[in-house]
Amino acid sequence: MVKKGLKDIAVQGKRVFVRFDFNVPMDDHGNISDDTRILAALPTIQYLMAEGAKIILASHLGRPKGKVDPEYSLAPVAQRLSELLNQPVAIAPDCIGPEVEKEVARLKEGEVLLLENVRFHAAEEKNDPEFVTRLANLADVFVNDAFGTAHRAHASTEGIAHRIPGVAGFLLQREIESISQAMEGAERPFVAIIGGAKVSDKIGVIENLLSKVDVLIIGGGMANTFLKAQGYEMGKSLVEMDKLPLAQEILAKGEERRVKILLPQDVVVAKEFKDDAPYRIISIKDITEDEMALDIGPESARVFGNTIIEAKTIVWNGPMGVFEMDNFARGTERVAQAVAKCPGMTIVGGGDSVAAVEKMGVADQMSHISTGGGASLKLLEGKTLPGVAALQDR
Ligand code: 3PG
Repeated sequence: MVKKGLKDIAVQGKRVFVRFDFNVPMDDHGNISDDTRILAALPTIQYLMAEGAKIILASHLGRPKGKVDPEYSLAPVAQRLSELLNQPVAIAPDCIGPEVEKEVARLKEGEVLLLENVRFHAAEEKNDPEFVTRLANLADVFVNDAFGTAHRAHASTEGIAHRIPGVAGFLLQREIESISQAMEGAERPFVAIIGGAKVSDKIGVIENLLSKVDVLIIGGGMANTFLKAQGYEMGKSLVEMDKLPLAQEILAKGEERRVKILLPQDVVVAKEFKDDAPYRIISIKDITEDEMALDIGPESARVFGNTIIEAKTIVWNGPMGVFEMDNFARGTERVAQAVAKCPGMTIVGGGDSVAAVEKMGVADQMSHISTGGGASLKLLEGKTLPGVAALQDR
């Protein structure tokens, strides 16, 4: 990465404002149900502690729409950080204001303070200059380690980097380097696996990948639109009728660029969108008008798997079926196992694909698991992330 990183600046005794993405899932009792993003933040925090910085952490949680809402308080994150760092991490009453300024002024070298949810202020998402100034005045240096939010040009992710020197944290650096290495310097064969419900969500990604990869594997609900475009009857399956011409165009472009596009040839179908609905595994030629495709079948998973294992570079984003329902999760799980067996460079992003890799216990066999859904998609689209662009060049 051409941006300055943490090790390019001196932080001892400095007030360092570090933006993380602590937007973690919470259960019904307000407990953190997955602390992956907190664990991923530790190397940067521990480095700053060891270097004697005065550490101010900031993040959003959820979408509180510019209002204070206790449901979205970062207090549970402060608690979890205290346990993981083995030292108290206080939570400030807000992210700006006189109280916060006092708490920052009291910080000693190596101490950590977590600011309250920046999205309790509507000004955060508006990247409001006055709000930016108030955040920037809290610190001497800005570190962006919020990869998951780096595609947002908000006050604490982008605006602040124009007021105080901004550098990349370790997580942000690793994320950008891994994904850029795959996109720009991939060893071949380069195979992309794209899934999820709709083609419309990933048009930019598919178009960009068509100019990079050797094989494009398409699964999940979006495969239905491609199969329909090829003339198959998809019954009650989710098909984006208005995207049929686009699907045809993508298939034609693939042929023109000699990119092999693999679509499922067998599917798991049911008559209802319910986990306990009776299901059957059939060829894509045999879907009846009252059935819907909810997962790829075992033969498709086998064919996809053969290509995956041969790859030198893999990028995977999106599930192969309705992963949240056990009966329709197997296709995604089989793909997770195949990606794990691939000896090449393997990069996984997006909630359900990451969950599948974790559920199958193969997370440690991946080269890189991204902590960012939207942000990693933007990189796959070939876009620049505003939270990265605003940092200082090396
Ligand atoms: C995410 O979880 O994708 C990030 O935290 C960004 O959240 P947002 O989509 O609410 O900006």
